[in-house]
Amino acid sequence: MSKKPLPPLFNYDQLPQKSHIGNGLAGQDILSVSQFNQDTLSYIFTRAREMRQMVRRIGGVDLLKGHVLACLFYEPSTRTSASFIAAMERLGGSVIPITQGVQFSSVSKGETLADTIRTLEQYADAIVLRHPKIGAAKTAADYASVPVLNAGDGAGEHPTQALLDLFTIREELGRLDGLKVAMVGDLRYGRTVHSLTKLLTQYNVSLRFVSPEILRLPLTIMNEVRDAGLDARETHDVADVIENADVLYVTRVQKERFSDLSQYEEVKEHYVITPELMTKAKEKMVVMHPLPRVGEIHYAVDGDPRAAYFRQVKNGMFIRMALLAAVLGQA
Ligand code: NCD
Repeated sequence: MSKKPLPPLFNYDQLPQKSHIGNGLAGQDILSVSQFNQDTLSYIFTRAREMRQMVRRIGGVDLLKGHVLACLFYEPSTRTSASFIAAMERLGGSVIPITQGVQFSSVSKGETLADTIRTLEQYADAIVLRHPKIGAAKTAADYASVPVLNAGDGAGEHPTQALLDLFTIREELGRLDGLKVAMVGDLRYGRTVHSLTKLLTQYNVSLRFVSPEILRLPLTIMNEVRDAGLDARETHDVADVIENADVLYVTRVQKERFSDLSQYEEVKEHYVITPELMTKAKEKMVVMHPLPRVGEIHYAVDGDPRAAYFRQVKNGMFIRMALLAAVLGQA
């Protein structure tokens, strides 16, 4: 297939660094997965496992009592917003939820992101932000004196999702090194794919990128993969990867990012994971999806023990508990 480079996305260099205390995450913004190394990842994963044990046993604790988190979402969300809220509440903290649509906030009166952020930091100890513009979380972090956590900046990154995705792979398959991971679907606009791919460059994995031509992985991210020396290949066909994949990471075509909806119509039902296709997959592997799905995984796959996407959802809460405790300096 042709290797014509796609235009670069936002450059995450020069991330702002706030105070470095405790585990190194206290007081820091979480803007990109580039901030994490294997030590911080394994720290977060250990804490997430502790959170899981704690929730199973007693449901919640008072670790973050007296702390307030503002959740500011300029784009729709179910899992990311609900899991941040659940995470904060299970740790005894509270939440300012601006997640039901910024049309009900002063954003609809024309307030700038900078002013909204400078307002929320008067009330809250940290701010979770989802925004349609690449780089918006960094802009917010430049204005905020409290930590900003990027919950998705347009087609840029979604670092907390990548942490929970990596954690899920680790918990489901018991390792990261040596795995063959296939990313399927909208690799161009899918921010979860961008963040997870960048994170996986820290491990000795093989990567397969399966997409229609117009939805190939951005060149900047492919370059990171190549720089890491990983075995990586692109293809249009799931059949090329299904037999060897340890992880099949399936994504939705990001309709909201298309300027030409006829292009979306052409690619929207490109890949559907069916029980029949799953008969070709290994016995021990996992199918993952950041969700929401809009037809990419057939419902009949849900009963397959390899379908890990709802376990992945639950891991999101434990990871965000671990992250909030760390960022708020209570870990
Ligand atoms: C993803 C997102 O918002 O980027 N959802 C999520 O956070 N779990 C994926 C998507 O919207 O397709």
